[in-house]
Amino acid sequence: MKVAGVHRRTIWPTEDGEAVEIIDQRHLPHEWRVARLAQIDAVHHAIADMWVRGAPLIGVTAAYGLALQCRHAATDAALTEAKAYLDGARPTAVNLAWATERMVSALRALPEAERASAAWALAAALADEDVATNAAIGRHGLDILRSLAARHPHRPLNVLTHCNAGWLATVDWGTAIAPIYQAHEAGLAVHVWVDETRPRNQGASLTAWELGQAGIPHTVVADNTGGHLMQHGLVDVVIVGTDRVSARGDVCNKIGTYLKALAAHDNGVPFYVAMPFSTLDPTLNDGLAEIPIEARSPREVTHITGRDATGRRVEVQLTPDGSPALNYGFDVTPARLVTGLITERGVLAAQEAAIRDALARSPSPA
Ligand code: MRU
Repeated sequence: MKVAGVHRRTIWPTEDGEAVEIIDQRHLPHEWRVARLAQIDAVHHAIADMWVRGAPLIGVTAAYGLALQCRHAATDAALTEAKAYLDGARPTAVNLAWATERMVSALRALPEAERASAAWALAAALADEDVATNAAIGRHGLDILRSLAARHPHRPLNVLTHCNAGWLATVDWGTAIAPIYQAHEAGLAVHVWVDETRPRNQGASLTAWELGQAGIPHTVVADNTGGHLMQHGLVDVVIVGTDRVSARGDVCNKIGTYLKALAAHDNGVPFYVAMPFSTLDPTLNDGLAEIPIEARSPREVTHITGRDATGRRVEVQLTPDGSPALNYGFDVTPARLVTGLITERGVLAAQEAAIRDALARSPSPA
C-alpha cells in the first residue's frame, strides 16, 4: 500500500541480506518506526510483543526468523527447535505454525549446506504469495460489496470491521480490508465503521490510520457501538479477519468479534470473514473447545497508551489500584453466525462439507 506516496510492505529484507526490516506497529499511528531484525530472538520478541501482528504477517515474519537461524544451524534438529521456539511466540494464529511448517518441510528435503540460502528464498516466496493471496481475497470480496451496494445505489455502502485486518496485518493488502481497498479503487462509495478494539486498539490506531492514508471515509466507534448501529440500519455488512478457522467453520478472531456476529445475526446483517487458506486448521473441529486462546498481560486492560500534546508517549492507568484484570486476546464465533468465508479461491460456506471439499481440492504447498 502507499504511505506518503511510497509503496510499502510490512516486511522486507535489508539490502545487505543480513536481516529483515519491519514496521514497529506499536508506535503507529503517531510515529513511523522501522526495526531491524537480524536474529531469531529478535524475531520471536517482535512477534510476542506485537511489533508485528496479524495472522498472515506473523507467519511470514516467523519464516524469516527461521531463515535467519538457518545461517547458524540448519540440521534437522536445529530446524525442529527453531520452529518450536517461533511457534510459541503467539498461540492463537495458526498461520504462524503453518508458515514454519512450510519452511521446515521444504528445507528438510535439501542437503544441509543448501538450507540457509534456500530458506531465505522460501521466506521471500511466502511473503510474495501472501500479497497475491490477499489481492485475490480482495477481488472476491469486492463482488460481494458490489452486489450489496447495488441495493442502495444512492448512498455509500456501510461496512463494519473489528481489529486490524488491513495491509499492516499481512504483507500487503490485508484480508478484511482488501475488498474495501479494491472497492475504493473501483470507484464504489464505501464508508467503514472502525471498532476501536480494546485493549490494544488495533482499530483506532491501525485500521483508522490505514484508511486515512488511503483516503477512505471511515468513523472510529467505541467497541460497544456496533449493535446500536446495526439496529438503526447503519451497517450493510460486517467483514472481519481471522486467526484460525476450524474444520467446521468456527472462526477465531480478535476479542469482541463474537458480539458483533451476534448483533449482525439478530439484525439480519451479513457477517463475512476474510481469510487465506493458511488460516484453516483442519486438525480442529470444535473451535470453541479446541482453539487455544491467548491471554495477554492484564496491564493492557488496566492501562492505555497514547501521545500527549507534545508527542511524548504516555501510559495512563484506567483502573483503581489493585483491581484485577483479565485479558483474553481472541474469541470464537460459531460457524452458524458466519454468512461466508471470503478466501483467495472464492467464497466458501462456513460448513464442514464445504471446507473439507475445498481443502481436498487445494494445490499442495510447494
Ligand atoms: O492481536 P492481533 O493484532 O495480532 O490480532 C489480529 C486479528 O485479530 C486479525 O483480525 C487477524 O489476525 C486477521 S489479520 C489479516
